[in-house]
Amino acid sequence: MMNLHLKSPTNNNTGISPHVQGRKASSLFDVYSPFEVEIVRAEGCHVWDSNGTRYLDLYGGHGVISVGHSHPEYVRALTTQLKNIGFYSNIIRNPLQEQLAGAIARQSGYSDHRLFLCNSGAEANENALKLASFHTSKRKVIAFRGSFHGRTSAALNVTDNPRISSPLNAGNFEVVFATLNNKDEVERALAPGDVAAVIIEGIQGIGGLAEAEPEFLRWLRGECTATGTLLILDEIQSGYGRTGSFFAHQRAGITADIVTIAKGMGNGFPVAGVLISPGITARKGMLGTTFGGNYLACAAGLAVLKILEEEDLIAHAKEVGEALDQQFHTLPYVQKVKGRGLMLGLEFDFPVKELRKRLLEECHIFTGSSSNPNLLRILPPLTITAEDMAPFIEALQSLNSNPQV
Ligand SMILES: Cc1ncc(COP(=O)(O)O)c(C=O)c1O
Repeated sequence: MMNLHLKSPTNNNTGISPHVQGRKASSLFDVYSPFEVEIVRAEGCHVWDSNGTRYLDLYGGHGVISVGHSHPEYVRALTTQLKNIGFYSNIIRNPLQEQLAGAIARQSGYSDHRLFLCNSGAEANENALKLASFHTSKRKVIAFRGSFHGRTSAALNVTDNPRISSPLNAGNFEVVFATLNNKDEVERALAPGDVAAVIIEGIQGIGGLAEAEPEFLRWLRGECTATGTLLILDEIQSGYGRTGSFFAHQRAGITADIVTIAKGMGNGFPVAGVLISPGITARKGMLGTTFGGNYLACAAGLAVLKILEEEDLIAHAKEVGEALDQQFHTLPYVQKVKGRGLMLGLEFDFPVKELRKRLLEECHIFTGSSSNPNLLRILPPLTITAEDMAPFIEALQSLNSNPQV
């Protein structure tokens, strides 16, 4: 059993590659605070560093790895596609795009929505907001406190974090940040009738796993319809089966006008999309992107959906998530367990920064953080089993009385 009260060793037993130990500032623009681990190989829910040390990946590169690292079917689909053709732009018709749109429509239950393909979560939200404005000819948006929707212009403007907004972004268009589940605040913001869209995450990711109650979502759906406002569901992190249903908001039984998808959609290949209600009319040139919907992106997207279905991974995520939820409640120092399926958060009564570092260095386990400093975020590949999770449970069971030391 691993003992988290042990002090972090300073030699190579840390699993930290000698290649990256003591590395100095490079020519890269220095905006990240990376762990100094050089990952060279990955399989399923594990990754290996350049010393051959195996790590349990409960982070999935920020909730991106859905069907597992280097899944053989995923590797086969991408390599086969690459040997034929990797890229051409949207100047020609790519039949894989139609196949992908059909597969998403069938598996997600959004059978009438159409798909616009792009490359990242922020770009998906940018296009969703733009579409809402095109459709309604309005320019005000309601978002929620704690939200994160991306770092491009409009997506950033609806993100509740002024620290990452530049003077150029601020005030781009009017945004009202309402409190999640507060009907009065939303009602007041909708009252003047000048709102293009309400944008909301299926479950807040970076915000620390807060989520709208199903009854609030149903009410919101009704209010949006009544006021001619488009409802945008950001399922970039909570979608693609992560919470035990294809989209997290589906447990409320509602249909959004626009749904944005990314992360798990490509299992690491950069691909994103916007699912658009039949009520929104497309116009030539309205949206566009060079890389969006390229052959490799479509091959990745199709492989992910095939694996999700063949391995019944959404039901698996629900089952494993429920078992974990119960186990997490029994762990020492855990105050609250948040989230659903395999999008889970463990809230402690102390900041988890040091704990995350020690889980990585001493127990070789990757975990995630959020804007709540006390929350440890778990976003593992959907293929993970209870057995795979055992070292994490053991590590947290072994937390000594002063877990921050
Ligand atoms: C809910 C949500 N929306 C949007 C984004 C932005 O996605 P990307 O980093 O691909 O632009 C993220 C990224 O973490 C996210 O969690």
